Amino acid sequence: MKRRDRFRRICLGSRWRERIVLPGGRELLLRPIDPADLAPIRDGFVLLYPEEVRLRYLHAVKALDDDYLRKLVRPRRGLDFVLVLAEPLPPGEALVGAVARFSRPSGARDAEFAILVSHFLSGHGLGHLLLRKLIERARRCGLSSLYGDVLAENAPMLRLADALGFARQASDEPGTVRVRRTFAARQVADVADTGARLG
Ligand SMILES: CC(C)(COP(=O)(O)OP(=O)(O)OC[C@H]1O[C@@H](n2cnc3c(N)ncnc32)[C@H](O)[C@@H]1OP(=O)(O)O)[C@@H](O)C(=O)NCCC(=O)NCCS
Repeated sequence: MKRRDRFRRICLGSRWRERIVLPGGRELLLRPIDPADLAPIRDGFVLLYPEEVRLRYLHAVKALDDDYLRKLVRPRRGLDFVLVLAEPLPPGEALVGAVARFSRPSGARDAEFAILVSHFLSGHGLGHLLLRKLIERARRCGLSSLYGDVLAENAPMLRLADALGFARQASDEPGTVRVRRTFAARQVADVADTGARLG
């Protein structure tokens, strides 16, 4: 039987903006990342468990460096796509609880994705929703595939990738599995869709 989302979704006028209401009534905003998210993401990093950070970055990371953060919050138009789940407050004031992104070099038709749903929000189906959104965006950009390297022991992420049609492949990184979802051929759109300023 097909599973359903365990939260309520209210569209906010764009495919990439939604209000999410969790079963307990807690509200979140799903939206594209904003430059003002830099400080909340940097400061909130210390609240993450070392293990979830290791699973996301494939190795231990003590703090996010400024250069990485600056690039993260200013996606290159048509090449990077970054969604966050945040408190329903203005960017800069809102804590960010999840980040999902993909990125590709200019001219490439394959994009690498990564996702982190913090333990504050995990287990509600939000990782599933975010990965579905990345897939939708990748398709709309006409990409050939979306891929990610996942630690071999990261069973929840591998199950999530399986559930969303990713195939497992050997990876260059020792101890990791590459998961890849391929899309039917289309022309690559280097310019973001109209109506969605995504950077
Ligand atoms: C892996 C991770 C992204 C999962 O996020 P999450 O929000 O907890 O996951 P979800 O709640 O969406 O999914 C949990 C389960 O429900 C399923 N599910 C959720 N919503 C669903 C839906 N609408 N339909 C069908 N299945 C659904 C998922 O497939 C998964 O199945 P499982 O219980 O067999 O594992 C999160 O734990 C995380 O960020 N971990 C640390 C960082 C990391 O590992 N990143 C991956 C590196 S790329």
